[in-house]
Amino acid sequence: MAAAFRQPRLLTAAASLLVLLLASSPSSLRPVESAADTNRVYSPCADTTVQRSDGFTFGIAFAPRLSFFHNGSLELSPCDRRLSLSSATSQVATFRPKVDEISLLTINTSSFSPANYGGYMVAFAGRKYAARSLPSFVANSTYTVTSFTLVLEFKKGRLQNLYWKRDGCASCSGKSNFVCLNNQDCAIKTSNCKNHGGAVDCSLGIQLAFSGTDKHFSVFNSWYEVENLRQYSLYGLYSNLRNSLTGQYNKIF
Ligand SMILES: *[C@@H]1O[C@H](CO)[C@@H](O)[C@H](O)[C@H]1NC(C)=O
Ligand SMILES: *[C@@H]1O[C@H](CO)[C@@H](O)[C@H](O)[C@H]1NC(C)=O
Ligand SMILES: *[C@@H]1O[C@H](CO)[C@@H](O)[C@H](O)[C@H]1NC(C)=O
Repeated sequence: MAAAFRQPRLLTAAASLLVLLLASSPSSLRPVESAADTNRVYSPCADTTVQRSDGFTFGIAFAPRLSFFHNGSLELSPCDRRLSLSSATSQVATFRPKVDEISLLTINTSSFSPANYGGYMVAFAGRKYAARSLPSFVANSTYTVTSFTLVLEFKKGRLQNLYWKRDGCASCSGKSNFVCLNNQDCAIKTSNCKNHGGAVDCSLGIQLAFSGTDKHFSVFNSWYEVENLRQYSLYGLYSNLRNSLTGQYNKIF
């Protein structure tokens, strides 16, 4: 596959990564000193293999749904130049989480409105071994989805697959201010968002989980931990985000 990364505008100022390392049970959550990162590949459009404690760079592109498809049908990586993701209609954020840590990505939407960039996002990494997620709906003028779980699946340390994990709206069932879209995404009205004149900070939170094996066949098991933790509300674990991302819903509605 011919892949050359023409970087659309980067959301560097808005995007950030919060990390917690998990011990065996949620009650013993603790930040832990990190081991060495041996992965020298920093571009989201290059191939690499990773081992535990490595960082791994991937990107998230925001654009209209159809612009992720070549000729209307074949979904390509945003790194592929056959897609004409121009800076006018797309934005890219890059992240470098560690593959053995539970991480929450945030994209601050105070100066970036996903609805203005087509409203869909795709997670991607790699060149010859390009992997990309399906486009996920983020926002349009009516609805905004703020909470996502992204699974990065590795085999022998090479990224095989990226996919959005849904919980069938379990996280918003019974909450009258949320709407369940397509039985999979909890959304709020875009008019409630600060970037559209409302009162809610509709910044995006993307929970990451790693599954599969590293290049030494060690198993990544953060997906297992995320599944078990979901009942405790992951955002609650990130104390510095709690007030800005979740506390506001209780306050405002
Ligand atoms: C695009 O799709 C149309 C209709 O399916 C087809 O006729 C055309 O050959 C395709 N073009 C390319 C470049 O694949
Ligand atoms: C987003 O940025 C604005 C302006 O800097 C700040 O007030 C707000 O708290 C940030 N939101 C989050 C979730 O970090
Ligand atoms: C916004 O997205 C929702 C869910 O995908 C859809 O039902 C609705 O028609 C869209 N509204 C607009 C104005 O595009």
